[in-house]
Amino acid sequence: MHLSEQSVRAALSDLEARYVAFMIDHFRNWRVWADASQRMADGIPVLREEIPEAFAIEYEFAKAVLEMEHQGGFNWNDPRLRKIFAAVAQGPFYTFWADMITEVVLRLTPLFNVKTLLEAGAGRANLTVVMLEKLAARAADILLVTTDAHPVVLDSIGKLREQYPSIRQTTCLWDITQKPPQPLLDILQPPVLLYERATITYANWQALNNFAVADVVVLGDYFNYTGTLYAYDMIFEKIGVKPLLYQEVKPVLDACFPYQYIMDARVVEEIGLPNVTLTVAWR
Ligand SMILES: C[S@@+](CC[C@H](N)C(=O)[O-])C[C@H]1O[C@@H](n2cnc3c(N)ncnc32)[C@H](O)[C@@H]1O
Repeated sequence: MHLSEQSVRAALSDLEARYVAFMIDHFRNWRVWADASQRMADGIPVLREEIPEAFAIEYEFAKAVLEMEHQGGFNWNDPRLRKIFAAVAQGPFYTFWADMITEVVLRLTPLFNVKTLLEAGAGRANLTVVMLEKLAARAADILLVTTDAHPVVLDSIGKLREQYPSIRQTTCLWDITQKPPQPLLDILQPPVLLYERATITYANWQALNNFAVADVVVLGDYFNYTGTLYAYDMIFEKIGVKPLLYQEVKPVLDACFPYQYIMDARVVEEIGLPNVTLTVAWR
């Protein structure tokens, strides 16, 4: 038996209202950034003061990418970039985003009678920590399986686990461009809810096919919803960050999770923001 879109919407309605209000307020000047990024791409100097605060980090990132390109090559290990990435994770949107993704997950857990939470691409565990805090505060009895493609990530999450002894948590290697490996399948107890943030961007949208191991997904990823691309998209594409077009993602979602609900679709309607950032889908 599947849950209707209506019952999922009803369960999330207050969170949706909070999310939409924040997004509209935070990103309302996105066109100023889109125009500024065009000038940057055209080689025209753009001052930091011209950029709305919500896009300050994107501006620094774009500037670094263009300068590195000019100097003959892009280097992910450049200390300047590392600083930018650290700043992204601590910024107001990322902090709010983590809070909302985990709230949505925990709201859906009883609704779908979820037995396993599966996190894809945990990285520096910024999202994992928020989830661990919430599970500990609610004394939730649920299995949390944290995955990433890189063993070093799982080592550090293994250490983190010691800080939350009350939580049933385990880690497993999973490259999301591949089918879930047998050791992961052996751990999962259905129904499974998979959640992630900013991982599909760094893998590719076909990875969504491999998420079909779950019954419900909460996707915190930028999907370009309008189909229009801007100069900042082209700048970030130079370093392999391909825009995820919703029109490409949608058929895969339809095949794996026919029921979908985009939490911030109203933001696109209200301020024309080209992307959505929080999608719930289930079967
Ligand atoms: C931008 S970080 C996001 C980390 C974390 N989800 C968060 O929100 O803080 C992207 C993460 O995706 C992971 N990743 C990239 N490609 C992957 C793949 N093919 N399979 C699994 N994880 C992957 C990387 O290890 C990286 O930590």
